[in-house]
Amino acid sequence: MINNQRNFSAGPGALPECVLQMVQEAIQALPETGISVLGMSHRSDWFMQLLQKTQRHLRILLGIPNDYQVLFLQGGSSLQFSMIPMAFLRGTGKTAEYLETGYWSAKAPLEAAHEGRVRIAWSDKAAGYRSLPDWGQLQLDPNAAYLHYVSNETVEGLEFGSEPIGLGVPIVCDMSSNLLSRPVDVSHFDLIYAHAQKNLGPAGVTLVIIKDEFLALARKDVPSMLNYHTHMRAQSVYNTPCVFSIYVLHLVTQWMLGKVGGVKAMGEINTQKASLIYQALAQFPAHYRIHAQAPFRSQMNVAFHLQSPAREKDFLAKAQSSGFHGLEGHRSLGGIRISLYNAIGVEATQALAEFLIEDASC
Ligand SMILES: Cc1ncc(COP(=O)(O)O)c(C=O)c1O
Repeated sequence: MINNQRNFSAGPGALPECVLQMVQEAIQALPETGISVLGMSHRSDWFMQLLQKTQRHLRILLGIPNDYQVLFLQGGSSLQFSMIPMAFLRGTGKTAEYLETGYWSAKAPLEAAHEGRVRIAWSDKAAGYRSLPDWGQLQLDPNAAYLHYVSNETVEGLEFGSEPIGLGVPIVCDMSSNLLSRPVDVSHFDLIYAHAQKNLGPAGVTLVIIKDEFLALARKDVPSMLNYHTHMRAQSVYNTPCVFSIYVLHLVTQWMLGKVGGVKAMGEINTQKASLIYQALAQFPAHYRIHAQAPFRSQMNVAFHLQSPAREKDFLAKAQSSGFHGLEGHRSLGGIRISLYNAIGVEATQALAEFLIEDASC
């Protein structure tokens, strides 16, 4: 039977069972207010406190330094593809550098090109996005407005194992599919963004973590809703925020702090899960063809192909009837994709690894 613990979907992804139970209750009535979370005002004291608590949790979990702001925005990560160049590239006469490492990072510079000069500093498009660059091999314009990259390519299953240090330009990173999945040193970045629907909660809220010094450079003469200063001044309640999504994010941060024991512990669990899957696949290299080259494989998304689309269809049908959900590859790549977000447990991952072995053996 399908259940939430076996939802390996790439996003929206699985949420922890205890969070789902609390959400169920909160939809009826929040224990602390007696009112459904869906009917709570964003101007209420309850919501203001919720925002503060959520921000505090995120600061603890990620070790966010005091000179960084945490904003709760909307429009998904796709809106950040536009807001970032609008704020930091438009009218500067500078170039924005982009790494093109997969489906999502290739989308971002297309939006930036509406705002100014864009340079693809590195691309693996010709090889089908199977590898990532070394930080040391990049040749960047020292006067660039920023360098943009995606820390985990959700579609192809590629993940950077290290962070850029000392590149001499502001660093902007889309961490949509791996924020909170492993430790990160926020001080290496000028702006981090991530939508919620992978590891943080349901779709709706998009987190932006931005350094004060970088925020000061953001253009002010842009539409209010697209202006980082607006959201900073209004403490993320300039207009009606997605109260529900932020509420669930709060529960997820509480779960991470209380039950999991923080991001380091989460990272260790995620490493264990990923190795269960990769080891199972590695036993049958002729059967399972992993998309990413070995050093660049993601802990969050494992993308691979079988020998033919017909075999993949058969595999997906069998997986579904064995209770595993959400294993279809992205429409751009096809094949199979296993997403191992934080809420997926070791037990469910072990069961899927056994299914992979069994399927390849018969
Ligand atoms: C890494 C990455 N960036 C950006 C996006 C686009 O996000 P959204 O649908 O929130 O605009 C996705 C979507 O899955 C993603 O995985």
